[in-house]
Amino acid sequence: MTERIVLAYSGGLDTSVAIGWIGEATGAEVIAVAVDVGQGGESLETIRQRALGCGAAEAYVADASDEFANEYCMPTLQANALYQGHYPLVSAISRPVIVKHLVKAAREFGATTVAHGCTGKGNDQVRFEVGIQTLGPDLKCIAPVRDLALTRDKAIAFAEEKGLPIETTKKNPYSIDQNVWGRAVETGYLEDIWNAPTKDIYDYTATPEFPPAPDEVTISFEAGIPVAIDGVKVTPLQAIKELNRRAGAQGVGRIDVVEDRLVGIKSREIYEAPGAMALITAHKHLEDITIEREQARFKATVGQRWAELVYDGQWFSPLKRSLDAFILDTQRYVSGDIRMVLHGGQAIVNGRRSETSLYDFDLATYDTGDTFDQSMARGFIELWGMSAKVASGRDIRVAGK
Ligand code: ARG
Repeated sequence: MTERIVLAYSGGLDTSVAIGWIGEATGAEVIAVAVDVGQGGESLETIRQRALGCGAAEAYVADASDEFANEYCMPTLQANALYQGHYPLVSAISRPVIVKHLVKAAREFGATTVAHGCTGKGNDQVRFEVGIQTLGPDLKCIAPVRDLALTRDKAIAFAEEKGLPIETTKKNPYSIDQNVWGRAVETGYLEDIWNAPTKDIYDYTATPEFPPAPDEVTISFEAGIPVAIDGVKVTPLQAIKELNRRAGAQGVGRIDVVEDRLVGIKSREIYEAPGAMALITAHKHLEDITIEREQARFKATVGQRWAELVYDGQWFSPLKRSLDAFILDTQRYVSGDIRMVLHGGQAIVNGRRSETSLYDFDLATYDTGDTFDQSMARGFIELWGMSAKVASGRDIRVAGK
């Protein structure tokens, strides 16, 4: 039987050419697999037909948009995960769900190898291959751009020579990856890190300099998951989409950073994640009133570690799974409503309420009704400062000798 290779297919030039390129290099049949993670754009049927037109033996489309929102975006939200304090892990969380479907397709079609279109310089190759090693340890991996010398020029020449049904003239200077959680744009003119991004780079967000009238929104959460917007029930996918639209119209969620890739390169990246950033802001503010202080402080460090693991391609690792359990436990009381104003590139919370809140008006108030016994503070401070006071006494003693 001819060997079969499952290819992660996007519908773009590189993966379209990869179908025939892999076929010629290996003699295997290629099964193209496209996964819908809410990236929008062309219909998946169009993409499927293109794969067949480019010589795929089979082409298969997986609708993973709800799965992606529920099982990948929601844990990211509950972790308030921002890699290096900025990046809501847009591409990093899509790779594991794509891997799941690639491995499933490999089983269904009896393939021995999984292929992807990543280069040898980025994080995504690591995420794909570590994921495949974990979920399908018997499967081999191949990356035609990295392993079979499929450069851009060769791809264009190959497509033209074979008359493949794919546009080769459209010049896009950027490398773009997008899904419902956000959009990542890199390369080209952005590689000079002093260059400001031009307007044409953005797609999910309108320019914040000329915003429409402020948009006030109320987001309701149950156990850290958004369940209603302005009182209308929503699924996680609907919540993200609705906020992509409303926060995007106000220019919320534009991010311009130089980040540390796993492979040791610093790289410039432009992100736009209006829904994700609005949701993370709201969620964090709800945690501020519903999570106890020590648990909240510790959760911040856990969330940061979680983000690093996920960025570094360790989605299916034991440590990531253990941190998930911790984060999930912290979400038990994260229920209630957050009101926020979306305007001029910002999402600013201006109201919060929760049945499970720890905010105690009677303790906090400076007005009548104050139940806080201020006389207790003196002794507390005396003991709290004791250890540092003893140490500073020693400093003085030693310095005097
Ligand atoms: N640097 C980001 C990450 O590693 C985004 C990479 C997305 N890929 C792209 N072709 N723009 O998660």
